[in-house]
Amino acid sequence: MAHSSASKLGVAIVTGASSGIGKVYAERLARRGYDLVLVARREDRLRQIAADLADRFQVCTEVLVADLSEQVGVSAVADRISRDRSVSLLVNNAGFSALKPLTETPDDVMVRMIALNVTALTALSKTALVAFKARGSGVLINVGSGAGFAPYPGIPVYGATKAYVYLFTQSLQSEVEATAVRVQLVLPGAVISEGWDVAGGAELDPLPDSIVMTTEDCVDAALAGLDQGELVTAPSLQDASGMRDYEAVAATLLQAMFDGRPAPRYGLRS
Ligand SMILES: NC(=O)c1ccc[n+]([C@@H]2O[C@H](COP(=O)([O-])OP(=O)(O)OC[C@H]3O[C@@H](n4cnc5c(N)ncnc54)[C@H](OP(=O)(O)O)[C@@H]3O)[C@@H](O)[C@H]2O)c1
Repeated sequence: MAHSSASKLGVAIVTGASSGIGKVYAERLARRGYDLVLVARREDRLRQIAADLADRFQVCTEVLVADLSEQVGVSAVADRISRDRSVSLLVNNAGFSALKPLTETPDDVMVRMIALNVTALTALSKTALVAFKARGSGVLINVGSGAGFAPYPGIPVYGATKAYVYLFTQSLQSEVEATAVRVQLVLPGAVISEGWDVAGGAELDPLPDSIVMTTEDCVDAALAGLDQGELVTAPSLQDASGMRDYEAVAATLLQAMFDGRPAPRYGLRS
């Protein structure tokens, strides 16, 4: 396997680095001294960002143009992770939403959303964990959403893809707990980005400042959470006990489901 990085920290791969949260991740990781591979579909933007970060932070930057809703795009990124030992961090950030009831969501949008938000994230998580475990270290950051906690009107598919990211990423902790590999789940709330236009939700503007966060604050809090060793980071959740309570209730429900007797309320036993 090749070594491509001159940086002591190695190479960070950021998906969805051409705008929004991913663009800020790229900037902050370059600032920390990571070399970068920037992934998205808009090559012009990626090249501009790559040149700017290489210039400002004296790191190596590379552009990998890939549509991650297509298998060929996922394979290109997976290959980059597998064949270069210096890849030490992956941010699975690329994702999109569509603000529509299910019955009005075009089939191709539905399919591409699941392919990007779920399938690509799953495949790249697997590739990264296989590589990082073999290399003895590495950091996987998966970007979910507060929208994965409970149904929210108008985003049935998006919310469900983010519920998947929550459960999937939490499930990976048991696979890395005895290793130096880290997995962090990041759950942004409402963050101002182009993603809202992509979702067709511009009519939501202007949301009150009190509930929306900047991309910079979101990523800075997420990286602070990473530095603090958090497994789950919710930048906008003011009281972290809410997350612990949620996890405790979910774990109790899971245990309670293991019972061979139909519940009395169904009246099957006299
Ligand atoms: N903004 C929020 O309120 C919010 C809240 C919670 C979670 N999130 C999550 O945060 C992540 C980033 O979203 P954002 O708000 O920063 O939105 P954004 O500004 O629209 O950024 C999305 C990024 O994903 C890339 N992308 C989209 N489709 C892609 C594809 N098929 N293949 C490869 N790259 C693709 C886009 O680049 P190209 O178009 O150039 O491909 C862009 O770089 C998403 O996972 C989103 O669900 C956002």
